[in-house]
Amino acid sequence: MGKVVGIYFSGTGNTKFCIEKFVSEIDANAICVSIEDKNCIKEIQDNNFIVLGYPIFYSSLPKIMKDFLVENKMLFKGKSLFIMTTMGLFSGDGSGLAARVLKEVNPEIIGGLHLLMPDSICDEKVLKKSHEENKQIIAKTNEKISFAANKVKGGLPTQEGLSKINQLIGLFGQRLWFGHKTKKYSSKLKINVEQCIGCGKCVKLCPMKNLMFTNSTVSQKGLCTLCYRCVNECPKQAITLLGSKVIQQHHSKDYY
Ligand SMILES: Cc1cc2nc3c(=O)[nH]c(=O)nc-3n(C[C@H](O)[C@H](O)[C@H](O)COP(=O)(O)O)c2cc1C
Ligand code: SF4
Ligand code: SF4
Repeated sequence: MGKVVGIYFSGTGNTKFCIEKFVSEIDANAICVSIEDKNCIKEIQDNNFIVLGYPIFYSSLPKIMKDFLVENKMLFKGKSLFIMTTMGLFSGDGSGLAARVLKEVNPEIIGGLHLLMPDSICDEKVLKKSHEENKQIIAKTNEKISFAANKVKGGLPTQEGLSKINQLIGLFGQRLWFGHKTKKYSSKLKINVEQCIGCGKCVKLCPMKNLMFTNSTVSQKGLCTLCYRCVNECPKQAITLLGSKVIQQHHSKDYY
């Protein structure tokens, strides 16, 4: 089978946690590399068994991941690909999203996996769960990851999210109504300049280099991929995206 390589995008740590656990249970020598890391291209080139991981945003691929796959499509030619996705609630065809983007280069899609995790959206009250509920979600997901890793090792990988029916569920379940939100990068981030202390954390962390200092306040370039990293990490809770107030920040270190 060769070395297993996990290639992922993770806005707030959920996908990173899941893919690292999954690949390490399949192969003790496996490594995981973020698409934000320049080494990831070489790792895809040098290895044949790739586990691809990403979060679901509006039942769609995060724009940063979609662009990465489109730009680097040829690297996946002839590879064996297992696609895993993380989500807060539901996705009909999360794994199928990347499989369809790469269809043209015909990788061997060996399986798909959908994993429930705490919601990374922290400024919408209706999506927030208690710490205890989130711990239970992660405990179940841990079990599911081990089950799925054993299925891969046994030659019968799970096939979640890959069928035509899944595609229809993803389309009618959400994408028809909300899919347009991830088609372009966004300029909808709200930065409360009164609350901002100019620490620069958000500027440093943004995977899109969307944020910068202008006249000692943070401004944006309109390249937000909606990952919620800055919203969850700002020490002054000065950033919001969908809602207008941070309810409670999601910090993966509180759980894993
Ligand atoms: C902008 C946005 C949209 C989201 N849309 C969905 C969705 O359609 N369905 C769902 O189940 N979860 C949705 N989520 C929740 C995330 O998919 C989930 O929390 C994921 O595990 C985050 O992974 P990460 O920490 O690796 O970024 C959304 C999160 C964000 C930030
Ligand atoms: S992380 Fe928050 S406080 Fe720090 S510069 Fe960004 S917006 Fe300002
Ligand atoms: S601006 Fe914030 S939410 Fe948008 S891509 Fe950058 S870190 Fe993610």
